[in-house]
Amino acid sequence: MKIAVTGAAGRLGRETVRLLVHAGHEVTGVDVVGAPAQGGGHFHVADLCDASSTLQALGESETVVHLGNHTTSYGRPAGKVFNENVAMNFNVLEAARAAGARRIIFASSVQVIRRERLACEDTPSGLSRLPLDGEMPAVPSNPYSLSKAVGESQLRYAAANFGMTAVALRFPALLPDLSTLARAEPYPEALVDEAFTWLSYADAARCIQACLMSPIIGYRCYFPAHPRPWVRQPVEALRQRYFPEVPVTVALPLVSFVDGQRLRQETGWAPQDGQA
Ligand SMILES: NC(=O)c1ccc[n+]([C@@H]2O[C@H](COP(=O)([O-])OP(=O)(O)OC[C@H]3O[C@@H](n4cnc5c(N)ncnc54)[C@H](O)[C@@H]3O)[C@@H](O)[C@H]2O)c1
Repeated sequence: MKIAVTGAAGRLGRETVRLLVHAGHEVTGVDVVGAPAQGGGHFHVADLCDASSTLQALGESETVVHLGNHTTSYGRPAGKVFNENVAMNFNVLEAARAAGARRIIFASSVQVIRRERLACEDTPSGLSRLPLDGEMPAVPSNPYSLSKAVGESQLRYAAANFGMTAVALRFPALLPDLSTLARAEPYPEALVDEAFTWLSYADAARCIQACLMSPIIGYRCYFPAHPRPWVRQPVEALRQRYFPEVPVTVALPLVSFVDGQRLRQETGWAPQDGQA
């Protein structure tokens, strides 16, 4: 399959290109910075904010994995993050349509469903329910998460109007491995409404691959996260401490903050990397 991967010089992009090339696909990486030293496939330097460069870079791709975006609001002008992310998404969708691509996978973020509540704050959670899944309503709280929420709408639009299969993946904190984050207690600046969720880069890339290969049709939004939190405590104890007022949609005691059932049923994907 001819696959274009945007953001191919980034951490998830490199992992994804490596996996897809290894699986035998014809991969073209696209990024505004130069090609990474390793990874394989072809590489196209292009600024996704520019419509004609994006059109050229995506060529005749049958499938697009769209990971190239500003990846945070912190320390960056709010208008730049929001406007440029939305412009990149629009240009990529238009170029995918022009290429005749039938499927697009987009990296959204857990940030679309949570407020910026710190572990050291004594305020109620803004989560609408537990466990978390991809169908929770978007409640963006910063320019980056607003751009991701708009990105999900842009995908829904592409599915409805271009006949594409369009998959938004609301990734949690992505890590090389759990050792970089695992703690016995949340650190004070931890954003608790992400419910201590995480995923390895390798599992995120495998999830993208599973979504590319699955028979799903139309628009989907999933929350691909490891079922165990990065805080090494029983999930039910964490729930009672940090989310006592949040409605729970499964039987108690809660055993995971993540409901990955639909994603597993529809794509066959489940995380393979380390347990907390
Ligand atoms: N890393 C995380 O914890 C995390 C969590 C949730 C969602 N995500 C999303 O996953 C995707 C990949 O994240 P990552 O961790 O690999 O980030 P990264 O910063 O390593 O990679 C992003 C890449 O996008 C490229 N890019 C940015 N603007 C561009 C432009 N105008 N034109 C072309 N390329 C451009 C950058 O050069 C970079 O190589 C992003 O969309 C990010 O928002 C990441």
